[in-house]
This record gives sequence, structure tokens and C-alpha cells, in this order.
Amino acid sequence: MCQLIALQTDITRLRVDAIVNAANCSLLGGGGVDGAIHRAAGPQLLQACRALNGCRTGEAKITPGFNLPAQFVIHTPGPVWHGGKSQEPQLLASCYTRALELALNYQAKTVAFPCISTGVYGFPHELAAQTALSAVRQFLALHPNTFEKIYFVCFLETDLAIYQKLLEKAAC
Ligand code: APR
Repeated sequence: MCQLIALQTDITRLRVDAIVNAANCSLLGGGGVDGAIHRAAGPQLLQACRALNGCRTGEAKITPGFNLPAQFVIHTPGPVWHGGKSQEPQLLASCYTRALELALNYQAKTVAFPCISTGVYGFPHELAAQTALSAVRQFLALHPNTFEKIYFVCFLETDLAIYQKLLEKAAC
């Protein structure tokens, strides 16, 4: 049974099989968690990303983790929030689904997600967390016994409280 865990930490410090990067479509780095992951992984990450020729919103691509404790980085551009009428929830859900598909293909058993799209991209935090958990649970229902632990890594206290509330609700 896969454990879903919310925690507040810097995702670059996690020793898991794969961390997920809230990237942009160029895959050439940026600010926020993207910048933190590139800084921690070192210049080889950018070199590897250059060879990927970008990534569409809601899709995902994988590289080694290089200097990170994580073996892999799964890069997925989330949607920019434009009010919710441009398929943003569906595109965000796709980020989680595609990332888990890649993780599965690479035999990753532990995966850590940041709160994709909730920073620069402005996605409402509660809806993003609901969307993330729903997409992950749907994937696990279709692919039972594939992962050991899936982490929802919150940088902000507010995000941690949202995830903890949603996870508790489901547990009872
Ligand atoms: N560890 C975990 N979470 C982090 C870290 C970190 N080291 N740094 C930031 N975060 C959190 C933010 O607090 C936010 O909750 O990651 C979440 C996602 O925020 P962003 O990094 O701004 O990502 P996003 O909203 O998806 O915007 C992506 O920002 O950095 C650029 O290149 C990136 O253009 C892309 C855009």
C-alpha cells in the first residue's frame, strides 16, 4: 500500500528515487523550485535538459539527479492559472499522472512532488492540492502496488496545512 505523505522541507534535500521539478516549457531552469533544483543538481542538469528540447505543459521528461541526493529529476511544466477556464485543473492533473508514469517506467519507488503551479504560476493552493491528490489516487488505483511512498513537499506552512487536512479527511 503506497503511503501518501505531506511534509515541509526543501525538496532538493530529499533522498528519494525521484523528485519532480515544477519546470517551464523550455526546461532551461528558472526561479522557485526549478532554480533550487538546478542549483543543487549542478550544471550537468542544464546540459541534460538542453538535450530534451523542451516539454509541453502537462507532459513530463526525466533526467538523472546528478549532485542531488535523488536519483532522478522528473521535469513537468504546470499550467499558468488564467482563472480556471483554460483546462488548468486538467493540465495540472496531467503533470502528476505523466510524472508517475515516468517514475514507474524507471522503477522509482519513492517520489516527491512540489506544489506544482502554486508559485509563479498562480494556481490556487487548495484547488492545486485537491487536484494533485485526486490525480495521484486515480493513478494508484489503476496501478496498485507500484510505489512505496509519494511525498507532497510543501515549502509554505499554508500548503502543508492544506495537504494535511486533505490527507486526514481521506484517512477517516
Ligand atoms: N523545495 C520545495 N518547494 C519549493 C522550493 C524548494 N526548494 N522552492 C520553492 N518551492 C515551492 C514554492 O513555494 C511553491 O509552493 O514550489 C512551489 C511551486 O512554485 P514555483 O517554483 O514558483 O513553480 P510554479 O508556480 O510551478 O511556476 C513555475 O517558475 O521557477 C519558475 O522555471 C519555473 O517558469 C517556471 C515557473
